[in-house]
Amino acid sequence: MTAVPRFPAARDGTPTAAMLAAWERDGVLVIEGAVTPADCDALVERSRAIVDAWDPAEGAAVFSTTAPRHAADRWFRESGDRIRVFLEAGAVDAAGALLRPKHQAVNKLGHAMHDLDPVFDRVSRRPQLAALAAGLGLADPLLVQSMVIWKPPAVGGEVTCHQDATFLITEPSSVVGFWLALEDADAGNGCLYAIPGGHRGPLRQRFHEVDDALVSQTLDPAPFDDAAAVPLPARKGTLVVLHGKLPHGSAPNTSDRSRMAYTLHVVDGAARWHPGNWLRRGPDLPFRGFVPVG
Ligand code: FE2
Repeated sequence: MTAVPRFPAARDGTPTAAMLAAWERDGVLVIEGAVTPADCDALVERSRAIVDAWDPAEGAAVFSTTAPRHAADRWFRESGDRIRVFLEAGAVDAAGALLRPKHQAVNKLGHAMHDLDPVFDRVSRRPQLAALAAGLGLADPLLVQSMVIWKPPAVGGEVTCHQDATFLITEPSSVVGFWLALEDADAGNGCLYAIPGGHRGPLRQRFHEVDDALVSQTLDPAPFDDAAAVPLPARKGTLVVLHGKLPHGSAPNTSDRSRMAYTLHVVDGAARWHPGNWLRRGPDLPFRGFVPVG
């Protein structure tokens, strides 16, 4: 098991030669102190306010990567240009009723935080992140998807090992994931793990729409090399950058601490956006890059 190097945040965000070498080799970059604690706190505060304002009677859906019942759910399919709340499987009964207070039942918020909420917009479009994306080779970066992964104490669910390029499809594949620790994440509360170098292997699955249904299609049956997975503990403010084909996941949170994280997925507008992507945008909210509006 080879540890992944950790880098201090560069002032202007531009990756150094050593970071680019690690990115090529590992398909993952761990950048400490990339976002200030104050900005992390601002995102947590906004997230809590969104859940405060959410009435479970409006609708909800369980989001689980181990039992993907969400696939047929309109709540999920219509969330590409909205901010919607998704719940943990262990926090609702068979009829979908909450078994615990709503703040302790959330799996995630998604999927257009960065375009609809001014605080998420500001942090997502910070110039340092634009410089980092450019340095990693995204010629025409488009911010397509954002999520707050709640990972609440006791019921925060497992995220099974996957490649982000399974879910956000361009030709050629171009997605890069930016995962920001909003709270300290470690092996005790379900931090990320990844398989360094695994991005050089094939894309295993494609999750896309076929005949109006969302399906997971196996492209390559080769199993992930689970024995090569390394934990990626991350202090609050640490940014983990994930190549779209890098296998990664996280264990359940069985601790008494929450493990909130913010994820932002960026694709290259120079690549073709596949029409079968699950993620849809209406005409009022086209994908945008890092340049702030106004
Ligand atoms: Fe992911």
